[in-house]
Amino acid sequence: MSVKTIMVIGAGQMGSGIAQVCAQAGYDVFLNDLKPEFVERGLSGIKKNLGRQVDKGRMTAEQLDEVVGRITSSTDLNDAKNADLVIEAAVENMDIKTKIFAQLDEIAPEHAILASNTSSLPITEIAAATKRPEKVIGMHFMNPVPVMKLVEIIRGLATADEVYQTIEDITKTVEKVPVEVNDFPGFVSNRILMPMINEAIYTLYEGVATKEAIDEVMKLGMNHPMGPLTLADFIGLDTCLYIMETLHEGFGDDKYRPCPLLRKYVKAGWLGKKSGRGFYTYE
Ligand code: CAA
Repeated sequence: MSVKTIMVIGAGQMGSGIAQVCAQAGYDVFLNDLKPEFVERGLSGIKKNLGRQVDKGRMTAEQLDEVVGRITSSTDLNDAKNADLVIEAAVENMDIKTKIFAQLDEIAPEHAILASNTSSLPITEIAAATKRPEKVIGMHFMNPVPVMKLVEIIRGLATADEVYQTIEDITKTVEKVPVEVNDFPGFVSNRILMPMINEAIYTLYEGVATKEAIDEVMKLGMNHPMGPLTLADFIGLDTCLYIMETLHEGFGDDKYRPCPLLRKYVKAGWLGKKSGRGFYTYE
């Protein structure tokens, strides 16, 4: 299956990162979000990232212009009619995702693959919102997308082999490493990562140590690049809570119960780096 044009739905930190690596690999990209200012914010993040590459002498200013020139801003889902592949990176919410997929199914050409960057939601359920479940697949990038090498690829129950193969090839073309996993809540990455983050929050909640101490233990003791509370702020506490709820509901096991402190922070609007405050404060 030949893919030339990719549409990315959602211009937040994940969507803009995905758009960047796809454009860098030579694909024509539509970067879509609900409002022009959201797309603009995503684009300016991309320009800033690429600008750093120019400053470091890894890319010329002309190459930057070429990459940015391959990205078209979009606030109209109808632009999906141009796409061979759509990668959805909207908010982690099943109702929103199924609505988007049902619309994309109506708009996108028959041959187009519809992928979701969901970090924990069942691909089979998302696929059921369309009339082309064989062309629906999970393509889970890690944050920050331009830096992290992994893409988890998740087949839904009906995903066709040639669709899997196409997505694996594209993953390699954007210079990432594909790893195939089965469609279970949280897949592999968040099945393992989120309970660790949740446990770090319980450790803080129960007064076992300060936030700085918890992060320092995991950084220096386990060689993690970031402590778990810093990482939670970086991912977004609302996303962490949503993933824990998905694990809790999906497995029905109390070991996945979200820490009450996590709930409290999210209710307070302390969502981490993006809101200026989470476990730490940010400018
Ligand atoms: N966007 C693009 N590039 C970035 C970046 C960003 N947001 N942040 C850092 N970088 C680049 C820097 O430019 C630098 O590049 P060069 O080496 O080419 O110069 C490189 O990354 C290292 O950056 P720094 O020296 O500033 O900082 P660092 O060494 O602490 O690395 C980090 C930053 C890569 C984010 C590192 O701290 C890290 O790996 N943290 C853990 C990230 C992680 O676990 N991600 C997974 C989150 S979970 C997820 O995504 C799945 C989910 O579903 C929730």
